[in-house]
Amino acid sequence: MTLAEKNILLGVTGGIAAYKAPILVRHLRNEGANVQVVFSRSAHAFVAPVTMQALSGRSVRDDLWDREAEAAMGHIELARWADLVLAAPATAHFMACLAQGLAPDLLTTLCLATNAPILLAPAMNQAMWRNPATRRNAAILAEDERRIIGPEVGDQACGDTGPGRMAEPEALLLAVQQTLAAPCLKGRKVLVTAGPTQEALDPVRYLSNQSSGKQGYAIAQAAAAAGAQTILVSGPSNLPAPANVERIEVVSAQDMHDAVLARAAEQALVVGVAAVADYRPSVQNQQKLKKRNGAPLKLSLVENPDIIAAVAALPQAPVVVGFAAETENALEHARSKRRHKNLDAIVVNDVSNKEIGFNSDHNAATLIWADGEAELPYQSKEALAAALVQRLAELFFPESPH
Ligand code: PMT
Repeated sequence: MTLAEKNILLGVTGGIAAYKAPILVRHLRNEGANVQVVFSRSAHAFVAPVTMQALSGRSVRDDLWDREAEAAMGHIELARWADLVLAAPATAHFMACLAQGLAPDLLTTLCLATNAPILLAPAMNQAMWRNPATRRNAAILAEDERRIIGPEVGDQACGDTGPGRMAEPEALLLAVQQTLAAPCLKGRKVLVTAGPTQEALDPVRYLSNQSSGKQGYAIAQAAAAAGAQTILVSGPSNLPAPANVERIEVVSAQDMHDAVLARAAEQALVVGVAAVADYRPSVQNQQKLKKRNGAPLKLSLVENPDIIAAVAALPQAPVVVGFAAETENALEHARSKRRHKNLDAIVVNDVSNKEIGFNSDHNAATLIWADGEAELPYQSKEALAAALVQRLAELFFPESPH
């Protein structure tokens, strides 16, 4: 989505991740946005205003008592100008101020004064992010409908490893675009399945696969961002539930089947992204299986119910979209899978490529429906999810705003 004519106010607070802020300004400008950068006092310690001025084409604002500002009320002027406020990085201190309604400087004051959506990209040491005070502040901000993006988990500038890295500029650009896009699924109910299933052999062993849940979680998040009332039925995954999404956790294919079928009839759209086990052990041993002194152990498997085929067979079926994980003749197999399961559409990804598919951060796919096909080129799973949701809304809910 283009950001032409959109006024984005980028708040930069004092954290090492401020080094990514100039790249973010570039991305926003490339999409056509007007960008006004506002610094907190400590942002100056991490990035030079002249850099931001050169990239944004506007001088950086940082003074609550700016006499040059219209009517000497910079905070009101900026609060009205902004179509969206993005604080990146957002420090623990800045989050605490916002959560409590404190306004010690220009950025916090204009956040209090604006009616524009406020997005926050937290960045801090992992212990600071885990601190109960920060957890409380993040919960208050989420309740106040401030959208929190990230933080990501990984190595930190201070030498620690954990949650606290600022989301990448590309992910922040996508969040801005999603927030300003027309809510193309507004008022619709959407259910997404994600992750693997686990099929128990005995109390400690199971059959499963390498699905991380990343693609399905991204689609649930994109559906919610597009205004849908979204349910995510998830197999075991380490991912946090996306904001504004109701997550139902399941383990086996049968559990997932029951959870989906109990809710499917009231949905407008069901998207099956989960890597559901086709088979389960015919017997689930109550005790741990013992070694057999060299004798082979034979497993007998029975077929699991096909969840999305069952949804598509409902008398008042919602729009049903499947995913096809293929390793050869991908398009051919996916076209026949769509017809066979009676799906409205299917998204095929080539999982023989390690760069995409299972457990990667990126994907590339083809969307196939009854009378057309469209490429979803190589991109982050989040970006692919946003593009897919937009395309599904255009195809199946053409009366919605696009
Ligand atoms: O989770 P990630 O690590 O991000 O990886 C994403 C992914 C590779 C798992 C995802 O992009 C993907 O391809 N999901 C579909 C995986 C799969 O099981 O494909 P399939 O071709 O076996 O199944 C076809 C469709 O039928 C899928 O929509 C599946 O959810 C559904 N199905 C399959 C079996 C079954 N018993 N019930 C089902 O509903």
